[in-house]
Amino acid sequence: MTMMNAAVVTSFAEPPHYQPFEAPAPAAGGKVLVDVLAAGLHPRVRSGAAGQHYTSSGTLPMIPGVDGVGRLPDGKLVYFAAGDDVPGTMADKALADPRRAVELPAGVDVAKVAAAMNPAMSSWVALRRRVPLKPGQSVLILGATGNAGAMAVQVARRLGAGRVVGAGRDPERLRALLPAGADDVVQLTGDAGATGEALAAAAAEVDIVVDYLWGGPAQLAIMALLTARSDRGRALDWIQIGAVAGPAIELPSVALRSANFRLQGSGQGSVSPRGYLAELPALIGEISAGTIDVQAKAVPLADVEQAWTSEQVPGVRTVLVP
Ligand SMILES: NC(=O)c1ccc[n+]([C@@H]2O[C@H](COP(=O)([O-])OP(=O)(O)OC[C@H]3O[C@@H](n4cnc5c(N)ncnc54)[C@H](OP(=O)(O)O)[C@@H]3O)[C@@H](O)[C@H]2O)c1
Repeated sequence: MTMMNAAVVTSFAEPPHYQPFEAPAPAAGGKVLVDVLAAGLHPRVRSGAAGQHYTSSGTLPMIPGVDGVGRLPDGKLVYFAAGDDVPGTMADKALADPRRAVELPAGVDVAKVAAAMNPAMSSWVALRRRVPLKPGQSVLILGATGNAGAMAVQVARRLGAGRVVGAGRDPERLRALLPAGADDVVQLTGDAGATGEALAAAAAEVDIVVDYLWGGPAQLAIMALLTARSDRGRALDWIQIGAVAGPAIELPSVALRSANFRLQGSGQGSVSPRGYLAELPALIGEISAGTIDVQAKAVPLADVEQAWTSEQVPGVRTVLVP
């Protein structure tokens, strides 16, 4: 048995602890052992480590981490996603399927790639695979102040959006979206009436909404946009991606009858692994070229416990480095 160091979750109520753990053995199905160089601490990783993600099996102990940058046994530097059936990537070593790993260009910033792929992929895949964005269409990013939302503004622009509106709570992060590609921003406040009016004024005519919030803000925004729309027969495609503001909404049936409102989600399951894989090379190209801006904070894997519990700086994604 070969041992390695890893972030290990032994209780869903505690952060992972840095400790020795048995290295996974290269398995059937062609998976190989990768030297992990960087793994992102994404919200998805946190929910998995808390036993709360919809893919969680509930089995402990477990190693968190859904993706990372690593080196294959043949020396190739790759971005790879860990399967749901293997230990996670927050360890010295992890299993990767070379057919599902994408080679990275030489000299790439590995921490940036590990930080950006998960949040950037959310909108890239949604706007390419779920509702392919047509050049010139207009897009509202609901929840544009988080990492994924801020990248969604840049992704929509890069994929040819004619107009991009960002909506979120934090005024400073909202202002920063304007030079990053947003045409307009809307602040979501505790005043539902004023927020609904501001959303209607800025985004009633959008073609697509990319929604990271769900909960109260989505419930408010759906009716605000549909009722203010000049032509309710024109499609409004709503892509549900995250639920940071709440897991459920109340949706009046009239929303679906009185307008051409099309609601769908984008994530693991609604997009096939093959669909994700097909999008990775182009997205890696954008990130390595710097078209999609990302702030990464590299932290030694040995400090995982502290990284887990310390407050995250808005707009900066923590990356654990073995
Ligand atoms: N389906 C997919 O493919 C996929 C992929 C990646 C991520 N996601 C999901 O997308 C979501 C965002 O991910 P992320 O990486 O951007 O996370 P993040 O960087 O932690 O950002 C989350 C943001 O949510 C905002 N927020 C929190 N509660 C809110 C509320 N009640 N109302 C309005 N805004 C609120 C905060 O912005 P303020 O500072 O403005 O409050 C925060 O910056 C997560 O749910 C994640 O799981 C889904």
